[in-house]
Amino acid sequence: MTRVLVVDDSRTQAEEARLILESADFTVEVAASGEEALRRLATGGFDLVVSDIVMPGMTGYDLCRSAKAAAATRELPIVLLTSLDDPLEVIRALECGADGFITKGSGPEQLIHRVGAAVENRRLRAGGGTGSAVNVHFLGRTFAIQSERQQILDLLVSTFEDTVRKQQELVASQHQLREANRELETFSYAVAHDLGAPLRAINSWTQEILTESPGLDANGKQAADHVLRAASRMGQIIEDLLRLSRVAKAALHRTDFDLSAIARLVVANLTMFQPDHAVELVLQPGMRCQADRALIQVVFENLVGNAWKFTRKQPQPRVEIGADTQGGATVFFVRDNGAGFDMDHAHRLFLPFERLHSDAEFKGTGVGLTTARRVIERHGGRIWAEAAVGQGATFFFTLPPPRS
Ligand SMILES: Nc1ncnc2c1ncn2[C@@H]1O[C@H](COP(=O)(O)OP(=O)(O)OP(=O)(O)O)[C@@H](O)[C@H]1O
Ligand SMILES: [Mg+2]
Repeated sequence: MTRVLVVDDSRTQAEEARLILESADFTVEVAASGEEALRRLATGGFDLVVSDIVMPGMTGYDLCRSAKAAAATRELPIVLLTSLDDPLEVIRALECGADGFITKGSGPEQLIHRVGAAVENRRLRAGGGTGSAVNVHFLGRTFAIQSERQQILDLLVSTFEDTVRKQQELVASQHQLREANRELETFSYAVAHDLGAPLRAINSWTQEILTESPGLDANGKQAADHVLRAASRMGQIIEDLLRLSRVAKAALHRTDFDLSAIARLVVANLTMFQPDHAVELVLQPGMRCQADRALIQVVFENLVGNAWKFTRKQPQPRVEIGADTQGGATVFFVRDNGAGFDMDHAHRLFLPFERLHSDAEFKGTGVGLTTARRVIERHGGRIWAEAAVGQGATFFFTLPPPRS
């Protein structure tokens, strides 16, 4: 029967450890402080100590040092419970001669596994000699390491094991997140796509009522018009959502191209469709980037489209498209002198259907910036905005060069 002494000033944590270890057939006793632990160890018969580090009075390190200094308990393995968020924890544990680490909250299997491994390691090398202290320089200070070689190895391996496990957990959760996102995208694509057919039916049947019902009075006609307008608005929303999911799914084809030329193309389209909105344009020529040309065009359609839209009420509308260097990186920008917005709400801009202006003021669905952000993020870049109410807005984005 392996006897384990659990040292923890928190009763709940101590009891939890006791239950877990007892389930794996260890005999467990609990001490509420380092001092109490030393008194119990003096009576002998323990095979292992599992101790918390931070405790009022004697810390886990102190306990370890005292136990390793006494002939009767020198060989007793001591495993420290840690949160492992301070790199000094490892070196301090080596300094006081601890035999291993268990990360708090790493689950019952880990606790049982580590305790078993520590007992087994000590059994394997029972009778090994004790060496003298070794000085190690770490983070600008010198530490005298009391541990034996095998002990150091155990401790480092246990730390490494933890890092690997955390890394695996991280990879798994990233994978889950990607899967969840993909599912969500497929779902919204399917919904938007399937809404198309019933919407077309609503449209054509309402048209039919309008044209083929001679008895329809003025009220009836007005009602049918409302239906058509609502249907057309819904059609726009569906189209925007479909575009968002296409942008999210499309494979990236990066090429080196002239960004200024794309901006010019987008501006040409805007002026063709809004000939009455005369905007003074400043466009920096010769901007280049390595990105997916079609997707970057979608970004400009949204950013420059917004600049056009939100300068509609401005007597002398002006839009500037260019690039700056900030901290060695190229930052592209689209600046306007239009309606602007309150920066307190800036965090909402890039979320779907979030709008800072009413539909009566400026028409829109609120999906454009979400789409732009998705494109930029897929390229590994960042997008953000600066604005003030009535003083225009500037949208910035980066496009980091692809990793070779
Ligand atoms: N250049 C700008 N100036 C002022 N406000 C802006 C500007 N660009 C975006 N916004 C604010 O951010 C909101 C979200 O922009 P977004 O492009 O996503 O939606 P939208 O233009 O309203 O609709 P659409 O889906 O048709 O693009 C806008 O409704 C507006 O309130
Ligand atoms: Mg928009």
